Amino acid sequence: MKIFIDTANLDMIREIDGWGVLDGVTTNPSLIAKENTDVRTRVKEIAGIVDVPISAEAMAPDAPGMIREGRELASIHENINVKLPMCVEALKAVKVLSGEGIDVNMTLIFTPQQALLAAKAGARYVSPFIGRLDDIGADGTEALGQVLAVLSNYGFETEVIAASIRGPMHVFEAAAMGCDIATIPYNVLQQMVSHPKTDEGIQNFIKDYEKSKKT
Ligand code: E4P
Repeated sequence: MKIFIDTANLDMIREIDGWGVLDGVTTNPSLIAKENTDVRTRVKEIAGIVDVPISAEAMAPDAPGMIREGRELASIHENINVKLPMCVEALKAVKVLSGEGIDVNMTLIFTPQQALLAAKAGARYVSPFIGRLDDIGADGTEALGQVLAVLSNYGFETEVIAASIRGPMHVFEAAAMGCDIATIPYNVLQQMVSHPKTDEGIQNFIKDYEKSKKT
């Protein structure tokens, strides 16, 4: 499974790239706002430090605006793909942008039916939001499984990005189902590294190593 980081923070992106596990970056307007910058400036900066796909969200309300904004965002760097929120206007825009060779990440996907439409329209990625479904008492992991089952029936090239990940268990569930990509927040990536028995084992080995040096 490819690992994307779900952040617009440059230090976090650099850090995870340094781990040798980074396959992509996703941003959204809320993540960009947290960094007190604007999308164009920040995705250009990200493209300057890592050589992986980067999602930048277009915010226009209609298809012509999405197409215009999508072209503009994609022209910033060849690694930039355009995130569009699932709706009729976005479907129209995906058709045009994908026809021009611009990758689209259809975001805010909550059902397999939405994913099917996005894939048919030509989306390069679809992003089902697991955590936000769990938040309302639904089963986000089940919905992700349904998206994967439907798309894999028909051989779409569209890759599924497990999004709105809230913890290591979501990552495991996505990977166990063979999801193509998970976009993971920095704190969850850190949680994935640790285990109390690993930390305890390291401390014990250090202690015994120091002891053995003295003998
Ligand atoms: C995906 O690309 C989104 O940026 C993200 O996963 C949303 O997650 P949230 O529900 O934690 O805001």
